[in-house]
Order: sequence, then structure tokens, then C-alpha cells
Amino acid sequence: MVDTLTPVLTANWGAERSWTLASYEEHGGYAGLRTALGMAPDDVIAAVKDSGLRGRGGAGFPTGMKWGFIPQDNPKPKYLVVNADESEPGTCKDIPLMMASPHTLVEGVIISSFAIRANKAFIYIRGEVLHVIRRVQAAVAEAYAAGHLGTDIHGSGYDLDIVVHAGAGAYICGEETALLEGLEGRRGQPRLRPPFPAVAGLYASPTVINNVESIASVPAIVANGADWFASMGTEKSKGFGIFSLSGHVTRPGQYEAPLGITLRELIDLAGGMRAGHELKFWTPGGSSTPLLTAEHLDLPLDFEGMAAAGTMLGTRALQLFDETTCVVRAVLRWTEFYKHESCGKCTPCREGTWWLVQTLARLEKGEGREEDLDLLLDQCDNILGRSFCALGDGATSPISSSIKFFRDEYLAHLEHGGCPFDPAASTVFA
Ligand code: NAI
Ligand code: SF4
Repeated sequence: MVDTLTPVLTANWGAERSWTLASYEEHGGYAGLRTALGMAPDDVIAAVKDSGLRGRGGAGFPTGMKWGFIPQDNPKPKYLVVNADESEPGTCKDIPLMMASPHTLVEGVIISSFAIRANKAFIYIRGEVLHVIRRVQAAVAEAYAAGHLGTDIHGSGYDLDIVVHAGAGAYICGEETALLEGLEGRRGQPRLRPPFPAVAGLYASPTVINNVESIASVPAIVANGADWFASMGTEKSKGFGIFSLSGHVTRPGQYEAPLGITLRELIDLAGGMRAGHELKFWTPGGSSTPLLTAEHLDLPLDFEGMAAAGTMLGTRALQLFDETTCVVRAVLRWTEFYKHESCGKCTPCREGTWWLVQTLARLEKGEGREEDLDLLLDQCDNILGRSFCALGDGATSPISSSIKFFRDEYLAHLEHGGCPFDPAASTVFA
């Protein structure tokens, strides 16, 4: 289900065989590439900088600025790596994009590689989604056959090869340096930063790593101009993005809208919460971003609005839960995920996520003590800011935010001797 306010990335998702080159070109595809090849690479970087595009993988780092960090006087080859390892719980935007319109990504890769003077680009896709890997591989093959890729692209003198790489299925490989380790054939564990990949990334060469949606936004920016993109969104969060709505909403799916839209507006687009039920809590950008509640329905969904509310915009994975959901159980499920996905490199995360699960599980079963709430917060405190990468920090977000907003519900588990919710009433966690 797709619904949009400003369809750009999702504009052609409903077209017949939208994933083919013929359909993509029929709808204006590869016009941005022809424009870019007529520009100086630095002017393409300038256009992306001026557009205000910020990384769509979750962190929101300015894309053009990242490209500008690539040292062009470094004689080593430059690389572009697309992070297509979408794994954040609730996030489902990159995979639908690659399935419905893989050429938007391929065109974005060519323009972005041209801008940073890379002759080799990698698209790193999580290994579990074989259908997506095949679809992107087919699009790359079509692009070669049409002369959009390979040697002397459209007589410009510019050469580019794209490699579609299948990951082996670990959440941590979405962390950019763990992804690079995996791409180089090693176990996926994060590297120390700095140096950032822009200086020493793949094979110790200057490397730009961007999320699928960031790169897929580039063709439209080049074709329509930086001002067009910057005219949408908010002052510091420009442009549009894909919001994925899941959970207790009438029409879950991907909704493309300018940054700064509110959750209330998105829920209206999605047909409301399921009939007869009310929103209880939600995640703005997957489970690694602190939870919010119905009080926050009218906040702007942009980087600043979410930071002001004590959370993060993240990947715009809006998971919506109504009053039938036990927040303690939901948090336990997420925490089990982080414990399972911890790569084990650093002690606070490896040991800490294990302890979080033990403490939460006994609380959820009604076997804990009131002091366990402070114990949980203390465990979070010993992980947050002390872990080697963002996975450890993210694991603490649902716990500390749920205790902030739903302390009484934790205590109700103790008073009730178990979960006070009727499991039969929950459609998500039954
Ligand atoms: P970060 O803020 O440390 O870095 C963001 C980007 O900016 C990176 O590419 C980094 O190399 C670059 N950068 C930052 N400072 C730089 C500097 N001084 N010089 C050069 N480059 C610099 O964020 P991080 O740890 O890369 O990502 C965390 C985010 O990932 C979270 O906000 C979360 O929302 C998101 N995430 C997304 C998932 C998904 O499935 N899409 C899964 C899990 C987390
Ligand atoms: Fe690995 Fe967790 Fe440490 Fe990140 S925080 S390096 S995932 S153990």
C-alpha cells in the first residue's frame, strides 16, 4: 500500500512492471544522469550540498558534505558503497524501493559515483532478501545493456562498474564499518572511527557510504535542481522521505511526504488507527529511537522536532501500538533482538544486553521487584555512551523511554503477578 503527498521516489511504484528499464525511462528515468554527465563533478556535489539532503539511513548527516570529505588529491581509488542492509525493526522503505523501482537506485549510484570520481560502486544488500538481490542485479544488467554503465558512459569518458553484494544476514552489518569488514570478507564487526570511511574506508581507500534512499533521492535533485528539493520539508530538514507505518493502523505501508509532517497527518493518510482503538505508544525511527506516546502526535517528524522531544527521527519507521499492547512485552521482544544481534566485540553491549533481557523477562513474568526498574535504568546507564557502536546505545532506548512514560505498567506486572493484559486481545504480541 502506497500513499503519498509529494510522490517522487514512490511516484511510479504503481506503474506496470515498474521495476523494468522500459517503465522507468517511460516515466523520465535517467534524465538526471544525462544532466549530471554534462556537469562538472564538483557542481553535482554542490547541488546535493545546496539541496540540504541529509542521510536517510537514520543519522541525518548532510550527504553533500560527506561527499565533499573525499580527498580528491588521494591517489587511491575512490569507492561508493550503498548501505542496503535495511534491518532496523519496523523499517521497510529501502526494500520496497528496490523492489518497485531499482533503477532509481542504480541511476543514483551512477550520478553519485560520477560526483565523487569513483569507478567502482557496491550495493550491499542483506542476504536474507534474495528476491531484492535478484531484482537489483537484473536492473544493473539492464543498465549495462543500455550503456548507462560500463566504459565511456554515453560518450562522457566516465567509466563505472557496479557490484551487487549479498550480506550474510547480521543487523550489525548495517553499521557502516562492520559493513565494510563484511565486504572485505571478514567477520562483520565495527571498526574504530575516526578515520571515517570518507578518508579510509573500503580497502583503506576514500569511500562514501550512503543509504539506499539517500542515493535514490539524487537523480530527482539533479534533474529538478537543489532549490526544488530545498523548497520542501522544514528549515533544517529539507525535502521528502518515505515513512513506513506498521502495527495497529488501518492501512500500513510506505507514505512519502515532506519532512516535518506529523504522525497525526500520516495516521489520517493511513485510514486511522484500527477501528475502535487508540494510539498508546509509537517509535519514530524504529526501536533504536526512544518511544513516544499519543501526547506527541502533533510534533513535526523532522530531525529537530524529534530531538526536541528527546528522541530521534531515525529511519522514519513508525511502529504504532494501540491500548491492547503490553509495553513491557514489546520492550522485552526488542531487547531480545538486540541481545541476539550484539556482535560481541565490546563488553557493555555483549554482557549488558544479556542482563537487560534477564531483568526484563522476570519483570514481565511478574517475578521481579520494584527495585528492578532502577536496576534496569542502571544497566542502561552502563551501556549508553560506553559501547563501541550505536547498537548498544539503541538497545537502551526502548527501555529507558518506556519506564519514563509507562512506569505504572511495569509496576502493574508486579502487582498482578504477571502480564495484566489479556494476550488474546493483542494481535501483535500474542
Ligand atoms: P553517525 O552520526 O556516527 O554517522 C553518520 C554518517 O556520517 C556516517 O556515514 C559517518 O561516516 C559520517 N560522519 C560522521 N561524522 C563524520 C566526520 N567527522 N567526517 C566524515 N564523516 C563523518 O551515525 P552512524 O553510527 O553511522 O549511524 C547511526 C544511525 O543509524 C542511527 O541514527 C540509526 O537511526 C541508524 N540505523 C539505521 C538502521 C537501518 O536499518 N537503516 C539500522 C540501525 C541503525
Ligand atoms: Fe558489537 Fe554491541 Fe559493541 Fe556494537 S556495541 S561493537 S554491536 S558488542
